[in-house]
Amino acid sequence: MSATQSRDSSEKQASIQVARGQGTTRRGFLSLMTKGMVYLSGLLGLRGLISFLVYDSGPTTQTRINLGASSNYPPGTRTLVAEANAILISQEGGVLALSLICPHLGCLVGETPDGFTCPCHGSRFDRSGGLIRGPARQSMVRLEIEVDRDGNLILSMA
Ligand code: FES
Repeated sequence: MSATQSRDSSEKQASIQVARGQGTTRRGFLSLMTKGMVYLSGLLGLRGLISFLVYDSGPTTQTRINLGASSNYPPGTRTLVAEANAILISQEGGVLALSLICPHLGCLVGETPDGFTCPCHGSRFDRSGGLIRGPARQSMVRLEIEVDRDGNLILSMA
């Protein structure tokens, strides 16, 4: 072995030792990446948990729809308000407004001679929106309705 070869060999050895001593090994790198991923997923999960616990739906915009003169809705009539996905049921005591959005998972319920039926999972409601059969667990949602000072029906939806 010549002096040049010997010097090259010892430089290689030194660089290998330096690499092992100071550099990152493959195993170390993978371990570091694994720990990083675990910490990152933990942080993301914690963030999701905090968001869930302090959830605030924020201010909801309220939509008011002027339905015209209340005299246009005499007792005994049922009027579909398509733009609101609602139905107005006029009775002797006043007007009932029901949302046609199913309280189960949000499909639109359809009116039947007996009341309302949801086409998605079969929930049934009576003619006043009362729950007859699930899977919905509550009656149809009643919407706020009022008569303004001009005698118009105003439907409010939050
Ligand atoms: S969405 Fe109406 S019963 Fe499920």
